[in-house]
Amino acid sequence: MKVYRPVVPAKVNLYLEIIGDRPDGFHELATIFQSIDLHDRVTVRSAPSGIIRVRCDHPDVPEDATNLAYRAAALMAERFPAAFSKYGGVDLEIEKRVPVAAGLAGGSANGVAALAGVDLLWELGLTRADLCDLAAELGSDLPFCVLGGTALATGRGELLDPLPDVQGVWTVLGKYRSIGVSTPWAYKTYRDRFGAEYARTAAELKARRQAAKSGEMVQAIARLSKGDRDALPVLAALMRNDFEKVVLPEYPAIATLRDTLAEAAPLGAMMSGSGPTVFALAPSHDEAEAIRDRAQSRLGDQDLDFWIAPFRCSGIGLDPA
Ligand code: C5P
Repeated sequence: MKVYRPVVPAKVNLYLEIIGDRPDGFHELATIFQSIDLHDRVTVRSAPSGIIRVRCDHPDVPEDATNLAYRAAALMAERFPAAFSKYGGVDLEIEKRVPVAAGLAGGSANGVAALAGVDLLWELGLTRADLCDLAAELGSDLPFCVLGGTALATGRGELLDPLPDVQGVWTVLGKYRSIGVSTPWAYKTYRDRFGAEYARTAAELKARRQAAKSGEMVQAIARLSKGDRDALPVLAALMRNDFEKVVLPEYPAIATLRDTLAEAAPLGAMMSGSGPTVFALAPSHDEAEAIRDRAQSRLGDQDLDFWIAPFRCSGIGLDPA
């Protein structure tokens, strides 16, 4: 029986600006996604039972039809019914390494792993563009998980402009095990408090999207990709995440973690996505370890986990099965 282990990395947001409402109830974003070398171990097998089954070793991850990996396999079965009946069901096993509900697209990456694994199992030969289209039907972060690397995203987060690869940068990630932030809550609270600042007209939306595309952070990424290390502190100083304005006041522990990591890291720290993970940037693995050790000794909390992961230049890969 064929077995595949698609590798789909987690992400951080180096920049996240909420720029307006959308007619579909979602928000218009301008965000810069960055893949990091942290991923779950997902195993995809054909299941003779003819059904889709998800198993996960993490108690907070549902194994039913609400799991994004399940939904991804169900979408493939719906789109490719002949292959589904030819090859039978799909067995998905997820060993969690990326923290859950953390603002790192861990669930989205599992959905993309299921799409990519089923594509291989059923020998469909889908292109990255095909996978991105299917991914966009499942959630706003999934197309980026297909593409990976560094990219500027607009729309709901699904319209991607790839940016040049950045190498030699590490993240130190910190997350309280007992804290989870609901993404819909974060968007709704942001709209309630800051909706008055949203772009109102198509021209205003376009101008704000364009400002992000030609902005200083994109220029800093271009310089860094060419090996200009002086651009790293410039990039770090330009980091922005609008969600911090609603999440940090509501969760003082996350605010303290952010302040502590920012003090411990000369390049500074910020929350990723709608949180609660906070990350600091570091120019080397040694420096990343020093930052983690400083933050850990200052906070020393049993409930707090740290990870170190370098930036990664690609999306979907494959582990030998
Ligand atoms: O697309 P995804 O499933 O990740 O979105 C989760 C929730 O986050 C949506 O139901 C919506 O409430 C909110 N969201 C939004 N605008 C976006 C992305 C997500 O309002 N661009």
